Amino acid sequence: MKAYRASLLWFSPHSEGPAHALFEEDGMLVVGPDALGVQVVQAIGPWRSVSAQYPGMAVEHLPGRIIAPGFVDLHVHFPQTNVIGSPASGLLPWLENYTFPEEKRFAAPEYSAQAATFFVAELLRNGVTTALTFATSHPQSVNALFTEAQAQRLRLITGLCLMDRHAPGDLLNQGQGKRSGTEQSLLETEALIQRWHGVDRLGYAITPRFAPTSTEAQLRGAGDLAAKYPDVWIQSHVAENKDEIAWAEELFPFSRSYLATYDHFGLMRDRAIYAHCIHFDDNDRALMRSTGAAAAVSPTSNLFLGSGFFDYAGADRVGFQYGLASDVGGGTSFSPFHTMLAAYYVGRTSVEGLQTKQGLSLSPQQLWWQHTAGAARALGLDGVVGNLLPGCEADFVVLNPKATPLLARKTSIASNLDELLFSMVVLGDDRLVERTVISQAI
Ligand code: GUN
Ligand code: ZN
Repeated sequence: MKAYRASLLWFSPHSEGPAHALFEEDGMLVVGPDALGVQVVQAIGPWRSVSAQYPGMAVEHLPGRIIAPGFVDLHVHFPQTNVIGSPASGLLPWLENYTFPEEKRFAAPEYSAQAATFFVAELLRNGVTTALTFATSHPQSVNALFTEAQAQRLRLITGLCLMDRHAPGDLLNQGQGKRSGTEQSLLETEALIQRWHGVDRLGYAITPRFAPTSTEAQLRGAGDLAAKYPDVWIQSHVAENKDEIAWAEELFPFSRSYLATYDHFGLMRDRAIYAHCIHFDDNDRALMRSTGAAAAVSPTSNLFLGSGFFDYAGADRVGFQYGLASDVGGGTSFSPFHTMLAAYYVGRTSVEGLQTKQGLSLSPQQLWWQHTAGAARALGLDGVVGNLLPGCEADFVVLNPKATPLLARKTSIASNLDELLFSMVVLGDDRLVERTVISQAI
């Protein structure tokens, strides 16, 4: 058992609609093992009342610091760390000119291993303690990432990138002997599920890159695996870019929409996370809601690649789940603060002639929830991560609101919780995260 005395930020249980943050200026957080020996939150609340329940307990005092849930990144690409900041006219040329050439390098296990070490460290340095992550089409990249995440106890979900057409030959899933690349990719997916899913804090995601780079046979096989393993995750991309959508619709002319293609192959259900979900109509939104799939909203990526603006009002009107994601390397930062600020900009967008006329102001509590408890809920990990309610795994960040002169100046004049959170959302980055604490197992 271990206790911390600091300011505490967390969320009320099962926040529906507008998120409701809880804040304790002088709080106490107690963590200790659950029945399986995994460190979880035992108690949280005001210092005065919680400390009275744990007399004589050793307490680490962190004056002036804020303890908050570790962030959940709903969509990030481990092999794209080096791709950050590569400009292109849009998604498809960006993939062809920068992303595919870099991903080819992950065929080498040593290249994958050093990239995994950097990637996991960078997530943790930025306060991310759970991530749903793309790897490459090489099983060695998946093994390298799981191995490093396991060593650091990061809660990580990843999977073999399925792509058996429309990409450079050496990046497509490779066949073996008489088996085609398609067959081999599905066998490898199942072998990787059996090796990694549910081991320590690791989870597997069936990962068709996006419909245009998979044959119907591969999507069908992926859907069959999803039915066979109902508690693994599914991740892909959808409706990010107009050229991509036109291409997907040309390749799957029988589908009502690009999104509906995934449903056709059994790839929409709880624990299915689709990145972007920008250019949707209400039928698509209703399909998200009725299947239980969730969107990974990736605002820095969407702004950088000029993809468009996630329609928050549309999502809330129809009522499907979503959470925030960095989408590095289309996204420009590992920092959840940068992502929350970009989401705020997107919510504000009200530009004549663009797809959305939002004019919405997302509150800092909503933004923070979307990157913690809300993202956890989208993953089906409500009450497990992304919050500090009793029973949640003890993953948290220690924030120093005086980390820079400007942060110190601005946070010191905050007169309510929204002002304090907004100062951190707007001015924060990795310097704000003094420490990231990961739930240990005894
Ligand atoms: N669509 C298919 N692949 C990708 C990718 O790597 N990044 C983004 N942003 N969109 C994609
Ligand atoms: Zn992506």
